[in-house]
Amino acid sequence: MCYLTAFTNSGAPTVSDTLPSVLISEAEIESRVTELAADISRDYQDKGDIVLIGVLKGAFIFLADLSRRLTIPRTIEFIAVSSYPDSDVSSGAVRLVMDVRGNIEDRHVLIVEDIVDTGHTLAYLTELLESHHPASIRSCALVRKAERAEVDVEVDYLGFDIGDEWVVGYGLDYAEHDRTLPFIGVVKPQDQ
Ligand code: IMP
Ligand code: MG
Repeated sequence: MCYLTAFTNSGAPTVSDTLPSVLISEAEIESRVTELAADISRDYQDKGDIVLIGVLKGAFIFLADLSRRLTIPRTIEFIAVSSYPDSDVSSGAVRLVMDVRGNIEDRHVLIVEDIVDTGHTLAYLTELLESHHPASIRSCALVRKAERAEVDVEVDYLGFDIGDEWVVGYGLDYAEHDRTLPFIGVVKPQDQ
């Protein structure tokens, strides 16, 4: 497949033949992230502190914004997994690239994901982190493609449900491109 390189207003390169079309605007993301932070702060306010585990790379922007809006004590960890090496094709196989560094035993864990597609990644992470014996484990995802679900996995805090489209921006990429767009946009490969 061949893609033209275009440039957004901000100068960031994009791989689609047209600029990604806005699906969820910057303002919509901001207000939803604020709501999610309020929900999480309320639910955990009597639990001491929580550890947010951001799933690299895609969750880095969402985690940064969400964590700064929480009103409860929190610490930050990262975990890295790989499921779609440089492509948009789901294999269902998830590989651990980097484990959490801190001790999460007896801690309240909140997994922070950019997007839940088939659900394999979140199911894998939940099982992996359970083996560290946290006090509790929940998940928060900015976006979910409900109709693509292949495994039954709970998303406790969800930003937006979207259809079966490839989205970029706000941390999400297409083959490493378009992560830093301020909105969530849909990319249409050139041959579609
Ligand atoms: P799952 O294991 O199929 O749920 O896939 C989860 C991972 O696939 C996400 O964390 C993303 O890294 C990637 N992914 C799935 N759909 C998209 C998309 O539309 N845009 C960008 N990344 C995606
Ligand atoms: Mg991800």
